[in-house]
Amino acid sequence: MNEVIKTILNHRSIRNYRSEAVSKEALLYILQAAQMAPSSINGQQMSIIVVEDEARKARLSECSGNQIYINQAPVFLVFCADFYRAKIAAELNGTDFKIPNSLEATLIGSIDVGLAMANAITAAESLGLGTVPIGGIRNQPSEVIKELNFPEYVFPLCGLVIGHPLDNSEIKPRLSQDTVVFNEQYNPDLKAKIEDYDHLMSNYMLKRTNGESNRNWSSMIAKSYEHGTKRDIRKAMKEQNFDNN
Ligand SMILES: Cc1cc2nc3c(=O)[nH]c(=O)nc-3n(C[C@H](O)[C@H](O)[C@H](O)COP(=O)(O)O)c2cc1C
Repeated sequence: MNEVIKTILNHRSIRNYRSEAVSKEALLYILQAAQMAPSSINGQQMSIIVVEDEARKARLSECSGNQIYINQAPVFLVFCADFYRAKIAAELNGTDFKIPNSLEATLIGSIDVGLAMANAITAAESLGLGTVPIGGIRNQPSEVIKELNFPEYVFPLCGLVIGHPLDNSEIKPRLSQDTVVFNEQYNPDLKAKIEDYDHLMSNYMLKRTNGESNRNWSSMIAKSYEHGTKRDIRKAMKEQNFDNN
């Protein structure tokens, strides 16, 4: 197994950090790795805001549900879907600019961000650093947009905490490969496989929480998706001129 695969298979999110700085060199590699991810039509529809200022990190933490590791770790990256540069391209070429008025733009931006973030995570972990993505950054998108001075067509999708791990959590088991990967055609007969995973995750949680929780996967997912979402993403996106109704 080569070192890249080893790094990827060794992934786990870190939620406890030392205050030690991330070196400029390490951060540069992480950002370069993020930028080298493929992007739709090479449009590079993503931007990264590097936040190291303690007070700003604290405000973003507050906007993200007070996830303390944002304050604790030295670096917080905010990954955004970004069509602002595409707007400039349209102006330079005197063309209309209709793409943000479609769900497609949201998908393009989301995929570009996801790929960039995955590269950043692998790069950081290959350097011995820990990371945790922060979807909580979409709890109060309008506040984040103001705090980070976003122009139109830029929208925050996910944060990424980076720092030196204080302790390493255990690797979280995944669904079995045949629950997720299908040969040629989808196989919807998944109930028994999900029950098997529930059993595995229940034991994992017992160990991880020192016996406090034996919550399984399906109950966690069911609870998370029971009421849809409280986030009014559409309104905040509209304010950034993404009109994807
Ligand atoms: C888009 C996205 C958003 C996430 N948001 C949060 C978050 O706000 N807070 C958090 O603690 N973890 C967050 N996570 C981390 C997931 O909980 C974690 O990746 C998942 O439980 C699998 O665990 P692992 O990364 O340790 O393997 C997020 C992950 C992704 C991909």
